[in-house]
Amino acid sequence: MTEPNQHLKNSPSDPNGPSLETHIQMDFDAPSSTASSGAMRSVHVGSQEVVELRRIHRFFGDTKAVDDISFTVQKGHVFGYIGPNGAGKTTSMRIMATLDLPSYGDAYIDGFSVVNDPEFVRSRLGFMPDSFGTYRDVNCMEYLDFFARAYGLLGRDRQKRLSWVMDFTGTTSISQKPIRGLSKGMKQRLCLGRALIHDPSVLILDEPAAGLDPRARIQLRRMIRELADGGKTILISSHILTELAEVCDTVGIIEQGKLLATGSVEDIQDQKDNQHELTLRILARAEEAAIGIERQFGIPVPVVDGDLLRFEFPNDYAKQADLVTWLVSQGFLVAELTTQRKSLEDVFLHVTEGLVQ
Ligand SMILES: Nc1ncnc2c1ncn2[C@@H]1O[C@H](COP(=O)(O)OP(=O)(O)OP(=O)(O)O)[C@@H](O)[C@H]1O
Ligand SMILES: [Mg+2]
Repeated sequence: MTEPNQHLKNSPSDPNGPSLETHIQMDFDAPSSTASSGAMRSVHVGSQEVVELRRIHRFFGDTKAVDDISFTVQKGHVFGYIGPNGAGKTTSMRIMATLDLPSYGDAYIDGFSVVNDPEFVRSRLGFMPDSFGTYRDVNCMEYLDFFARAYGLLGRDRQKRLSWVMDFTGTTSISQKPIRGLSKGMKQRLCLGRALIHDPSVLILDEPAAGLDPRARIQLRRMIRELADGGKTILISSHILTELAEVCDTVGIIEQGKLLATGSVEDIQDQKDNQHELTLRILARAEEAAIGIERQFGIPVPVVDGDLLRFEFPNDYAKQADLVTWLVSQGFLVAELTTQRKSLEDVFLHVTEGLVQ
C-alpha cells in the first residue's frame, strides 16, 4: 500500500457533513487517475466490482459511526447490509450515495470516487433513504416526473421511462393519487420508482422493507431479485438477517461501525458457527445418558420430552461418531440422531454482541 495522501475536502451541503477543518481524506492506494478529469477519472476496481468501499471511516465527535469498513460488491449481486440499530448502516449508505463525506477513506461506484466524482456517482446510483421526503401536495406521476426531469430525461424517453418504472413498481393504478394519501407500502414502491427513474447501475436501499406487511415484503424481494438478474448491483440494509438471506448473494454484518463478517450466508454460518443443534433419542435411561454425556464430553445436556436430548455439539462427523460409540458402549439404546444448523437468527446473535453506541 502506498503512503496515505492526505488532503482537505469541502463538505457537501448536508449540515451533518464533516467541516472543512475536520474532513481529512486519505487516498490510501487510489490510482493517480482519480486526479484527472471527466470520464478518465474512472478508477479501475476490477471489472466485476461495481461497488467498493475502501477503509471508510466516519466520526461524529467521539462516535465512530463507521470505523474502517472495506468491502466490494460484484455486478448483478445483491449485498445485504445487516446490523442492529446504530450500527452505521445509514451512515455508510449516505456516504455511498454522496450525501455525506467520509472522515477517511473512499468509496467507488462504477469506478467513480464518491469524494472526487460525486456527480458521476449520482448519475449511476439510485438511493432509497429510510424515510420518505415530504412532498405532500403532488401526485405520484408528478413526483416521478419531477425526478425524471431532474435527471435530464426528455420527451418520449421520459414518458417511456415513467411508464416502465410505474409498471415495474406497480404504481400505475395510483399515478394520479396524492402522495399524502398513500399507504406505507405504496410510498415504498414510489420511493423505489424514484431511485430507478434514471436507470442507475447501482441501487442503495436503506431498510426498504421496514413497515411492510408480509406480502409486500415478498413482492419487494421479487423486485430486487429481478433488478439484480437484469444486471443492477444492489445494496440493501436491514436489522434482520432472515429477511434478506433469500434475496442476497452476499451479506455484511456490521456492529458499532465495524464489519464483523462478510460472505455468503452459508460462509458466515460456517465461519462463525461450527456448532449444530444435535438431538438424540435414547430409549430408557435418558436422564442418565444426559449426565454421562456431560461428564464425558463436558457439554451440558438438557433432556426434553422424556427420551429426547437436545444440545449444541460440534459440526463434526468424527465427534458425533465418538459420541454414539460411547453411548452404545455404556449400554444406552440410541434410537435416533439428528443434527440441525442453527437458525440465521442464532448466527446473527452469535456474530453480534448487541452493542449500541
Ligand atoms: N449526524 C449525526 N450526528 C451525530 N451522530 C450521528 C449522526 N448520524 C449518525 N450518528 C450516530 O452514528 C451511529 C450510527 O448511526 P446510523 O444511523 O448509521 O446507524 P444504523 O445502522 O443506520 O441504525 P438504524 O438501524 O437505527 O437505522 C449512531 O451512534 C448514531 O447515533
Ligand atoms: Mg439506519
